[in-house]
Amino acid sequence: MTADNAASYGFFDDENREYVVTEPRTPYPWINYLGSENFFSLISNTAGGYSFYRDAKFRRLTRYRYNNVPMDDGGRYFYIRDGETIWNPGWKPTRTELDDYSCRHGMGYTRVAGAKNGLHCDVLFFVPPGDNVEIQKLTLRNDSQEEKQVQLFSLLEWCLWNAEDDTTNFQRNYSTGEVEVENSTIYHKTEYRERRNHYAFYHCNAELAGFDTSRDSFLGPYNGFDQPEAVTSGKPGNSIAHGWSPIASHAVDITLAPGESRELVFLLGYLEVAEEHKWESPGVINKAPAHELIARYGTVEQADASFAELGTYWENLLGGFQLQSHDPRLDRMVNIWNQYQCMVTFNMSRSASFFEAGIGRGMGFRDSNQDLLGFFHLQPERARERILDIAATQFEDGSVYHQYQPLTKRGNAAIGGNFNDDPLWLICSTTAYLRETGDFSILEQQVPFGNDENNCASMLEHLRRSFDHVTNNLGPHKLPLIGRADWNDCLNLNCFSTDPNESFQTTENKAGAIAESLMIAGAFVLYGTEYTDLCRHLGDDAEADRAGAAVRAMEQAVIEHGWDGEWFLRAYDAAGNKVGSNENEESKIFIESQGFCAMAGIGLEQGLVEKSLDSVQEHLDTPYGIVLNYPAFTRYHLEYGEISTYPPGYKENGGIFCHNNPWVMIGETVLGRGDQAYDYYCKQAPAFQDHVNLRKIEPYAYAQMVAGKEAPLPGEAKNSWLTGTAAWNYHTITEHILGIKPRFEGLLLDPCIPTAWQGYTVQRQFRGKQASIRVHNPDGVSKGVKRITLNGKEVAGQIVDLSACGDSCEIEVWMGGAG
Ligand code: BGC
Repeated sequence: MTADNAASYGFFDDENREYVVTEPRTPYPWINYLGSENFFSLISNTAGGYSFYRDAKFRRLTRYRYNNVPMDDGGRYFYIRDGETIWNPGWKPTRTELDDYSCRHGMGYTRVAGAKNGLHCDVLFFVPPGDNVEIQKLTLRNDSQEEKQVQLFSLLEWCLWNAEDDTTNFQRNYSTGEVEVENSTIYHKTEYRERRNHYAFYHCNAELAGFDTSRDSFLGPYNGFDQPEAVTSGKPGNSIAHGWSPIASHAVDITLAPGESRELVFLLGYLEVAEEHKWESPGVINKAPAHELIARYGTVEQADASFAELGTYWENLLGGFQLQSHDPRLDRMVNIWNQYQCMVTFNMSRSASFFEAGIGRGMGFRDSNQDLLGFFHLQPERARERILDIAATQFEDGSVYHQYQPLTKRGNAAIGGNFNDDPLWLICSTTAYLRETGDFSILEQQVPFGNDENNCASMLEHLRRSFDHVTNNLGPHKLPLIGRADWNDCLNLNCFSTDPNESFQTTENKAGAIAESLMIAGAFVLYGTEYTDLCRHLGDDAEADRAGAAVRAMEQAVIEHGWDGEWFLRAYDAAGNKVGSNENEESKIFIESQGFCAMAGIGLEQGLVEKSLDSVQEHLDTPYGIVLNYPAFTRYHLEYGEISTYPPGYKENGGIFCHNNPWVMIGETVLGRGDQAYDYYCKQAPAFQDHVNLRKIEPYAYAQMVAGKEAPLPGEAKNSWLTGTAAWNYHTITEHILGIKPRFEGLLLDPCIPTAWQGYTVQRQFRGKQASIRVHNPDGVSKGVKRITLNGKEVAGQIVDLSACGDSCEIEVWMGGAG
């Protein structure tokens, strides 16, 4: 096995904003995402993966088999046949040993390069902003002393659109597949004859020596991707698929003199055609829109120009927040990879990754609201649209659909409902949007209830319904009823499931208005206060007073009934028993209620926050992050549900569920403990991790879960990319640690940093202005600001109003003790 340190498989190239993989046999496929608007591709370091248009379930373009053997087989492959040697630039699927290999994952692109026997092949994959096409630019170079005559084969496998159907409904699927071939373009038109107004194509800008569209013809019925018959024999079959499994493969003959190179452009495109223009002639699809798309990107010059534009696109996006600190690992997280992952989670929610099959979950209500916390500064207009889409899935009583499908934007109950934390996340995202943009017009926007356009109310009214949903659903201790579950989907206090075939998420909840959640209580105090402040800001004092009183009552209820002596309880179960108490045998302490009650500052003066976070440190902290609960459940508890189905140390049962660690970090900043907050931050931030074999997943992406201290292999990570961990960490480091906090009135500067830091600078775009912020820490404090200047002039207080500045301004912040 390769040595377990950060350099074993690759390195960060910060200047180019890339991670460079230098060894194809990574512990798990290390992937990247192409596309950031409608057309998306997942691509691994060996070119595995797939593409889809907007919705990974309903518009899957290319096929991928999850949990396959060998791992990560299937993708977009190029085979080179050079004499008797057949190889791929990305090593897979032939796994022919390469003389040289690299994979550069960058911002919206991946470049896979390999060399063998004097030939060098480099393939650049990307999706241009604004169009529905994956561009693959391939460069083949002859570095040898002899002329080379090679055959190049491309390959991708079409998915029959509905990805779920594609993996199940073979009695139908084997009869429906249809293609057309026109010159060097292969069209996938399955089901176009009926209700589909879309098709896909795979184009090559060279003249073909042949092609294949039938998988059986290309591979041979008993071969894998590693030994396609067309390639091993050097004879493309010119096959036309009728049913079975349609694919697209181009064969190109290439002759290269020593030192010569050849560039080719391949395009994987998706098109929609209006009903009345679907056909060119009976049975022949209208290819005019495809021709137009090909005409835009089909040449090497066009592909190059488009790639340059992609670079500018990302340069502008990331320019919204750029940090210069003493630690390149921190800069790399803040300036590049964390922001990048926030874009990915914004686009994917929890739908498509190498751990999420793209058919299970759409856009989650709570997930998508939280993902916005890391996205507002990137593209505020898209964040606005997202908030309105999410809000439209709320019902009149404030409850919500737990997810919606990105294609239709309509909510559904496929993964359950009645999660009583859900409504509050709408307040969380909307108030954060207002702080970032100052765009209060969103509050007047009319938004449907339950996606019913005939039943609308203002966005502000939606927030009120969210707030009231909590106060209308209080339990015996005047704490919020948990419903099906709260943020922790697996704490199913009303489920009592004995049937392994029923889902904890969708099976009927047992009746009862007893089980209460301290996590929701903390969230209510935090976001309820934000709602109160908003009403106050809008001049609605009556509503602010009403909301403020409810928040204070909740604080009181938490202090009276939610404090266990050393930490906050987690919940009361359906029998009214304590959950997460010293009295319990197992899971005496949970992270969520400590995090939320600390963020909300409940009992701060009485020392409860400090005590609770000290308890977190004592019982939950580990070298790899903070576990969710301790000690983990060792057996199934009927009264707690799914949480106790996981073996100890995994997922919600004693795993380090990374999403919630930032809540504790923020809590630490409430206490002013910058060293502790940053220590937790470093334990999670991918660029700080040195144990790559153990960690397994991408060194540049956050994971949802790292195995906890009671697991057999603590520190092993799973489920990379699609996790609220990205947004929460971004929010935490930029706002709560670096302390640049958007407020309705301007930027509040309030760092909470390790005492050893001497300072840092940040370039921050804020409401169209460029602020250059320099923080000095001459006295070595963690928190406390003694002086701020704006363009050299002293500012009163800690909020800097930028509205009177020109396009750019200079802010200096001096931290230090009072006086
Ligand atoms: C879900 C979240 C949930 C979390 C904790 C994630 O997989 O996407 O909605 O809050 O698990 O259970």
